[in-house]
Amino acid sequence: MTRPTSPEEGGPRHVAIIMDGNGRWATMRGRPRLFGHHAGARRVREIVESCPDYGVKYLTIFAFSTENWKRTQVEVAGLMSLFRRYIMKEMQAFVKENVRVRFIGDRPRLDAKLRGLMDEAEKMTEHCTGTNLTIALNYGGRDEVARATQRLAQDVADGKLKPEDVCEETLPRYLDTCVLPDPDLVIRTSGEARISNFLLWQSAYSEYEFVDTLWPDFAPEEFGRLCAAYGKRDRRFGAVKV
Ligand code: FPP
Repeated sequence: MTRPTSPEEGGPRHVAIIMDGNGRWATMRGRPRLFGHHAGARRVREIVESCPDYGVKYLTIFAFSTENWKRTQVEVAGLMSLFRRYIMKEMQAFVKENVRVRFIGDRPRLDAKLRGLMDEAEKMTEHCTGTNLTIALNYGGRDEVARATQRLAQDVADGKLKPEDVCEETLPRYLDTCVLPDPDLVIRTSGEARISNFLLWQSAYSEYEFVDTLWPDFAPEEFGRLCAAYGKRDRRFGAVKV
């Protein structure tokens, strides 16, 4: 096993993952795409459980994007049903493992039952102090910035915020991620090298890892290797080391 890398040793405190490749994984096995999503859901638990081994305190995963509604009705309905069942099934385990669950994304378009379960999961794990798991559901980075700007503009209109006080420090307070640190490392599986509208503002200075592994095959060992490799990177945030 890769030696654990804690943030004190230079490991990532916050890792964000674009879990790609479920569909191809299923197709390669002659199965429907949803079969791949179910296999992908099982991987989520394993990766969450491995976070403490690698010193990862925050894990943010991209489960459904604002663009994923363009998929077939069968796939969208199947994914929504998977999310509902996942929350119902996994929450007790997350409480037991001290995992705090949060959701980011635009909730109104999601069905009422799913929204209720999301609220419940957040409440049930509110006291948990271990890994912070954030699930992006109906999430898009541009949509998030637009919604944040709307709320910010309302505060300006209401006189709660002066236009001259709008800056890099104020805007993130209106983002869905306002209580989270920026991701140190963003991983995308399945060999695609793009960010697909994920955490656009927050990942301005994140390190990226694009790996060929399809998400259902992404094992904790590979996750650990990527966390260890992050520890060897030189993050300068635009500055020059003296
Ligand atoms: C991308 O693979 C994956 C998704 C759009 C869904 C992600 C969902 C999961 C991993 C499962 C459930 C997660 C939770 C939190 C329960 P793709 O379908 O685009 O794959 P492809 O590029 O091979 O077609």
